[in-house]
Amino acid sequence: MIVVPGSASSGLSRKIADISGCEIANVEKKRFPDGEMYVRIASDVSGKDAVIVQSTTSDEKILEAILLCDATREANARKIVFVAPYFGYARQDKIFKPGEPISARAFARAIQANCDAFLSVDLHANSVINWFTIPAFEISAIPCVANYFRGKNIDILVSPDKGGVERVKRTSELSGIPYVHLDKVRLDGHTVTIKLPDWDFRGKNVAIVDDIISTGGTIKTAAKQMLDAGAKSVSCACTHGLFLGNSGNELAALCNAVIASDTIETKFSSYSVAEEIERALSKVI
Ligand code: R5P
Repeated sequence: MIVVPGSASSGLSRKIADISGCEIANVEKKRFPDGEMYVRIASDVSGKDAVIVQSTTSDEKILEAILLCDATREANARKIVFVAPYFGYARQDKIFKPGEPISARAFARAIQANCDAFLSVDLHANSVINWFTIPAFEISAIPCVANYFRGKNIDILVSPDKGGVERVKRTSELSGIPYVHLDKVRLDGHTVTIKLPDWDFRGKNVAIVDDIISTGGTIKTAAKQMLDAGAKSVSCACTHGLFLGNSGNELAALCNAVIASDTIETKFSSYSVAEEIERALSKVI
């Protein structure tokens, strides 16, 4: 097996290669004078099982992923697994207004043109898996989050919305910490309103568990309200920390701890999903 690292996931690729004891490909990337992207896999992947690892955090990273898949196929890899630790565009998983694309599906179709299997972590929409006609798998970072909070003196786990109840419930089962959920209404891309449950937050150490922190609006609003309601401390954990703008630092100023995985590599990546990915790969390949 050989790991082909995308530029969005170079650290995670290295960890996966180290855990698997396999080689990591040398990938060249540059821009042509007109701005178009150039990639080249400068290692021999011919006849090998190739695992391309790239979080699709931006349009640029998506294009790079598509080019890497094509290059790997062209170089005669035996089996190609595309790992998107973070699968972007998953929030456009349906047509909200006539005339829109199903962006996540469009991307899935482009990826599978040159891959034999797909693997991702905590997809925002489970429907994404169904759009692949190649074997597609999803794994979860929830055990890592549960493990992190176990023994940290957390009194209650909190889902910021009803949609995250299954996630927080599973985290609760694995950590033994009880949970509640808040009621969130999204007003626009940056603004949410949150209603707290009938639960006494006074003097409690709270940990919010979400799948994605994007603008940070959800966590900031929830954390402020629970602190106003008397919580002693609020920590927050997510799988995918996009931390747009200065939201990571703003959350760090408000929260006791800000925990994110390395599906998106930032200074807040405090735990790794490399072992989970490696374990899943050993079943796929
Ligand atoms: C929403 O359904 C998700 O689970 C997250 O709560 C949301 O994407 C977070 O976005 P933001 O950080 O921009 O509030």
